[in-house]
Amino acid sequence: MIFTRRDKEPPTQARSSLYDRFASRISVKNSLSRKLVSYQGNKDAPGLRWMKYKEGFSSELVQSFLGQIEAKTLLDPFSGSGTAPLTASSMGIDGTGIEIMPVGNLSARAIVAAANGLRHNDFFHASQDLIASLSSKKYEIDHLFQHIPITESAFPEQTEQDLAKARKFVDGIRDPSLQTLLTLACVSILEEVSYTRKDGQFLRWDPRSGRKVSTRLHKSELPMLAQALQRRIGEIMIDIPALQRMYAGSVPKFVDGSSLTELRKMPDASFDAVVTSPPYANRYDYTRTYALELVYLGFDADRLKELRQELLSATVENRSKRELLLREYGNVPLIEHAFRMTDNQTALQESLHVLRQEAHNLSNRNVIPLVENYFTEMAVVVSELARLTTPGGSVFMVNDNVRYHGQEIPVDLILSDFAEQLGFRCEAIWTLNRGKGNSSQQMGRFGRQELRKCVYYWRKSDG
Ligand SMILES: C[S@@+](CC[C@H](N)C(=O)[O-])C[C@H]1O[C@@H](n2cnc3c(N)ncnc32)[C@H](O)[C@@H]1O
Repeated sequence: MIFTRRDKEPPTQARSSLYDRFASRISVKNSLSRKLVSYQGNKDAPGLRWMKYKEGFSSELVQSFLGQIEAKTLLDPFSGSGTAPLTASSMGIDGTGIEIMPVGNLSARAIVAAANGLRHNDFFHASQDLIASLSSKKYEIDHLFQHIPITESAFPEQTEQDLAKARKFVDGIRDPSLQTLLTLACVSILEEVSYTRKDGQFLRWDPRSGRKVSTRLHKSELPMLAQALQRRIGEIMIDIPALQRMYAGSVPKFVDGSSLTELRKMPDASFDAVVTSPPYANRYDYTRTYALELVYLGFDADRLKELRQELLSATVENRSKRELLLREYGNVPLIEHAFRMTDNQTALQESLHVLRQEAHNLSNRNVIPLVENYFTEMAVVVSELARLTTPGGSVFMVNDNVRYHGQEIPVDLILSDFAEQLGFRCEAIWTLNRGKGNSSQQMGRFGRQELRKCVYYWRKSDG
């Protein structure tokens, strides 16, 4: 399709005709509630409730997908805190997850540690010793939180000292399962004991931190570290027996790393089911919102920047990974085809064309490469999923559409088009009852339109 520079109205034909192609398969699914597709649904789930991984979906959602199909093996290439592989394991399905954020895999591994081989009594004694160690007056400078500029002043002075004592205690534990669980206990309460709150793209700050803040956040009185830890430890104690019943003997596999490098190492047709939710193309920056947790786990400022680049491109800071992908894969047909699909996807190119024409009006021009990079990388991921899925296998993907400068990017339709070019049939695009509205700024300029928040169900042909 050729777009001219003199279009008066931004072109929409390519997006409209893509919509028409999928229209009969798009339906509102009332059973898909916001709670089910978000972390909210895990608030009472044993294990998954410890680390509030707000980008997660619920175990109940994964169960509902897996209940519709026959599967022996499951993959989640963006497994976060491990909801999909863990839920699969509890249903007797071999689960594998790939996750680049160590926070997510720590949470998943802590649940596995609690479920397999951990003695309730050992955990009780170690955790009480940890709490007791916090009442000491002494702390070691070597164990203090190694702040980077974006975490500076996150904690009151006493909490800084208590964190140093906790770290020293946990570092000295020999048993790997106990150490994993107690590390998770410490990491999972960092936000609660800090002057920060995670808020999508950024951390928000309470002015008591002493930092200059534009959006005012007022947290209620912060708990002491010992208080918050005691609460988390109480939850872990309650959950251990339930986890040992749910996951007895089944150990899902969690791979640390990027799907853009790890998927290619997996053999063809290894998975009957994929249940996943990739990052959305919405500018959310996990390395900023999880800065406290990452720094606690040993990241310095440089490593954090590197991680930001390694994540699937979803922020205005991400640079193109085409060269990296060519280096990793070589000039193989999968990559060539993925790049070609991206460059020839008319609805995507139409959206990019309009954004380029409007570049001078964009609040940040880097949303253009963001969109381009996002789809290039997702084209590679979907190509890999097509290679890795068994004949007749299923993919369930949770994702949101996005809008920039009033231009809807139909993420669901573009990714489903990629999937159909790669041997899947898009069986359904189920949308939530109410899509997401515009930001208030966009509503003023472009009126209110709803964005689809959906689940796509793709099925691989039988062979
Ligand atoms: C929407 S969240 C999925 C959360 C997960 N469903 C759960 O229940 O916890 C997307 C995840 O993709 C991860 N991610 C981003 N880029 C990645 C990459 N290149 N490889 C693997 N994981 C990545 C993020 O760290 C995040 O945890």
